[in-house]
Amino acid sequence: MRDILPQDSWLWERVESAYRRVMTLYNYLEIGIPVLEKTALFARSIGEDTDIVSKEMYTFTDTGGDELSLRPEGTAGVVRAYVQHAVGTQEPVSKLYYIGPMFRRERPQKGRFRQFHQAGSEMFGVPGPFPEIEQILMLKDFFGKLGLSDVAFACNHLGTPESRAAYTRLLVAYFQKHSDGLCEDCRRRLETNPLRILDCKQAACGEIIAGSPSFEASRPESAAGELETFIRVLRDMAVAVDVEPRLVRGLDYYTGIVFEGVARGEGGEGKGLALVGGGRYDELVSQLGGPPTPAVGYAIGLERLVDVCRSRLGEPTRPDVFVVVIGAQLEPRAVELMHRLRGGGWRCEFDPRGGSLKSQMKRADRVAARIALILGEDELRAGNVRLRCMAGGEQVDVPAAGLDSALREKLGAPGMEAGHRDG
Ligand code: HAM
Repeated sequence: MRDILPQDSWLWERVESAYRRVMTLYNYLEIGIPVLEKTALFARSIGEDTDIVSKEMYTFTDTGGDELSLRPEGTAGVVRAYVQHAVGTQEPVSKLYYIGPMFRRERPQKGRFRQFHQAGSEMFGVPGPFPEIEQILMLKDFFGKLGLSDVAFACNHLGTPESRAAYTRLLVAYFQKHSDGLCEDCRRRLETNPLRILDCKQAACGEIIAGSPSFEASRPESAAGELETFIRVLRDMAVAVDVEPRLVRGLDYYTGIVFEGVARGEGGEGKGLALVGGGRYDELVSQLGGPPTPAVGYAIGLERLVDVCRSRLGEPTRPDVFVVVIGAQLEPRAVELMHRLRGGGWRCEFDPRGGSLKSQMKRADRVAARIALILGEDELRAGNVRLRCMAGGEQVDVPAAGLDSALREKLGAPGMEAGHRDG
């Protein structure tokens, strides 16, 4: 579990605000769900025999005797809320998004944390493939806003319940022949949930998996047609999506198109790891007690994303104005002036410890203020304040009454003015 320290929080702020903007453009509304849910919710939706549920959840019994778990992902909770509040009866098409921490007790390794953050979206009420096409476009727009152009998307189609059953029989026959080479977990999965063998990360299993039957042969025509439309429409819009015939994703609720996006050429720890994963889950709403409702969604891993786009997000936002106070008696004037400036959207700072002109200027430099505003008795008597540009050092006296327009002339719009420097 990692701390997000103040020197990094601007990266997170920028990523999250870009996400909210893209969600608003696509008319998705935010939903807030608790970090704790009943353990049974996750077991029923993600699946008893997935790694997430069988090994990675933080589970405890509370003092009332309820079995609870910290959420390992957001979809189960969103669907629980969707059913509980009968959202579908008020709104036949619901587009929801969330940003927040998730918890999985995974083995610590590159790009995997035990508390991590996801930005996710779920759309209810419309069958495929157009909602998933739109979600890929949303992802593309979002990544583009962060300067990431090289995310490779892969997809698969898990077919119909009948074709999945037929495919599972093929898998079982194949893996039974190779069961001696499989890890202990996979030998158990062969009995309980054979599809999950395809998610195994063990090298020995990987070799066996590489030779296993792929989905393509058992995919029914309707599913193949849906996948074909998904890929073609996106290709026509210059978004390449490759078919990955053994992509099943590690959660049991998927029923149709599934997809993942990997940062390819980008640097950082997240390179080569999935930034996003998602897919269609048309049976989960009814499994959790709601009416049959088609649904599709995805979640982005924000630690990995922040890591790959760190160098593309520009500079942290800087204070616009640092007020330098010559003489402690002028401090109340400084506080009043800053209050007025902040009201106009200017981000202001001063050194509440006081000190010499030199030490205050050093502080202005340290916090990377764009301009120093020097408040001295002589200037004030003349109705002026002094502005010194931190980059070039040139300074001018301007009338205190016309400060806002003088600042606009030097700095452009205030840093915190609505819409400016947002995302
Ligand atoms: P997931 O593939 O388990 O899907 O997670 C989505 C993304 O979360 C991953 O691609 C990865 O970037 C990030 N992630 C997962 N585990 C960790 C970890 N331990 N540390 C850092 N990042 C991690 C889901 O969670 C589904 N709920 C997605 C979804 C939504 N499907 C339909 N709707």
